[in-house]
Amino acid sequence: MEKSEIKMEDYQYTVAGIHDQLAALMRLGKEISTETNIDRVLHILGDCAKEILDADRCSIFIYDKDKNELWTKVAHGIKEIRIPATKGVAAAAATTQETQIVIDAYHDFRFNQEIDDKSGYLTKTILAAPLINTKGETIGVFQAINKKGGVFSNVDAELLMLIGNYASVSLENALLYEKIKKSQMKLINKIATAAEFKDEDTSKHTKRVGLYSYLIAKRANLVPQRCEMIKITAPMHDAGKIGIPDRILLKPAKLDKDEFDEMKKHTNIGYELLYDEDDEMLKNAAIIAREHHEKWDGSGYPRGLKGEEITLEGRITAIADVFDALTSVRPYKRAWSVEEAKELFIKESGTHFDPKLVELFLKNFDEVETIYEELKD
Ligand code: C2E
Ligand code: SIN
Ligand code: SIN
Ligand code: SIN
Ligand code: FE
Repeated sequence: MEKSEIKMEDYQYTVAGIHDQLAALMRLGKEISTETNIDRVLHILGDCAKEILDADRCSIFIYDKDKNELWTKVAHGIKEIRIPATKGVAAAAATTQETQIVIDAYHDFRFNQEIDDKSGYLTKTILAAPLINTKGETIGVFQAINKKGGVFSNVDAELLMLIGNYASVSLENALLYEKIKKSQMKLINKIATAAEFKDEDTSKHTKRVGLYSYLIAKRANLVPQRCEMIKITAPMHDAGKIGIPDRILLKPAKLDKDEFDEMKKHTNIGYELLYDEDDEMLKNAAIIAREHHEKWDGSGYPRGLKGEEITLEGRITAIADVFDALTSVRPYKRAWSVEEAKELFIKESGTHFDPKLVELFLKNFDEVETIYEELKD
């Protein structure tokens, strides 16, 4: 298949539509440039290409080099499909890195009928463009199927390649972002747990505090992004304990006054450790580390903040942390029953804790117990 060239008659055919197509492309550029979620990226691109090319369906395949397969989650009217990158039109685009135009699928040697056989769909025309990353490697294929009222033209091919450029950049970014996010989440988990009883695996503890906090945030009707943020950052509340000596941290008895004063420093240590002016997540984590031992009546530490001087994040994490501490074994205490813990919140509502948040916490106590049961030590 030769690289497509634009023929004059194609232009005359599409000149009326070209304005709309350009407008759609501009919209696409704007929408896609900030999107980091792969599913969303694929959806936006697929919808856009469908509209611009007047195709019945569009799919973006991601090329899995290790398995030599193409897979997609987004295909209009189809669920996830996986195909070997050895046969079919999309595979040809992937391996040759050239756009493929098929005008009569069932009489074309490149066509792989298996997908139609499975889905009951009748493919007639196909346009498939390779998605190539900045290193020149194939990362996927952009495929449009069944042009409404005709066959795909060279102009369509050019347009798909243009959208394909967006798709390649967006997809590469999104794939990289997912990779970074995965390793970031691992790192967060390590930071969160490193501090706790150093040698023990307390990842369940930090996870639970994240989930209790998330639950309260949701029931307090915070916007989804803020809830998600709390879920990620609340587990880091005790990161500063990494700076507390083991003889205090692991003491199997009550702390004396000097020891407790030393222990209180974990809040400010955590803040200093995590704070980053340019990173929203770390900033948020730092604030939680500093404020999770503040109390509603102003008797907490390190700053003795009172009421709504304490951020909502700080007030939420205070509840989650204490609930989890009470219901867990510590070197210095036995685990309380869920009922005993509940009593403490009723008692300390309005003194230690924000009364409105305690109310939400207790109102949704069945969900609290579900997390407790599912993530038991
Ligand atoms: P932590 O063990 O994660 O406990 C977090 C918070 O849960 C405590 O903050 C406290 O508000 C609440 N909490 C935990 N256990 C109990 C309890 O038995 N009764 C009541 N009423 N509340 C409880 P706090 O007190 O500011 O302590 C901060 C951290 O200092 C604790 O984190 C723990 O690491 C350490 N710590 C506190 N008291 C002792 C102690 O007597 N011995 C030792 N070894 N460490 C202690
Ligand atoms: C192929 O790539 O040959 C199959 C096209 C399809 O129906 O999805
Ligand atoms: C500190 O600045 O690290 C100590 C403050 C405190 O008492 O928590
Ligand atoms: C509140 O105090 O309930 C809202 C304040 C905030 O959004 O931090
Ligand atoms: Fe703490």
